[in-house]
Amino acid sequence: MDDLGDLGDLGDLGDLGDRGAWQRVCESAAVVAGEVRGFVVGGACLAVWRDGEGGVHVWDDRCPHRGVPLSEGFVSGGLLTCPAHGWRFDVNGEQIRLITSSTPVCRDPSRAVVHEAEERDGNIFMRAAPG
Ligand code: FES
Repeated sequence: MDDLGDLGDLGDLGDLGDRGAWQRVCESAAVVAGEVRGFVVGGACLAVWRDGEGGVHVWDDRCPHRGVPLSEGFVSGGLLTCPAHGWRFDVNGEQIRLITSSTPVCRDPSRAVVHEAEERDGNIFMRAAPG
């Protein structure tokens, strides 16, 4: 996890300030396709990851199951997998279960907290999800 501030208690998601404002998270090059990394912005722990097509995603660094940092997980295609118990989340933060070839995906109500994310001028920015 990059140290951009005091990590504090990992269970504390910090204060993302003005939820309508865009905030810089990191340089675009800091997160490559198929990778997840942790950053701290304004005291908030964030998991920043890229799907298999290079799309960038900024989420709270906290699994909705038991709060384990998602930044310690791994990316496979368009899914981010929590390292603790293997829950998988699609790019919308929805937990999915891969079942069989005839019913390949089952969506579960558990969701990761997903923030708006975009890249500009070589940087990744996020706008906090409504709290
Ligand atoms: S804490 Fe993430 S799957 Fe259990």
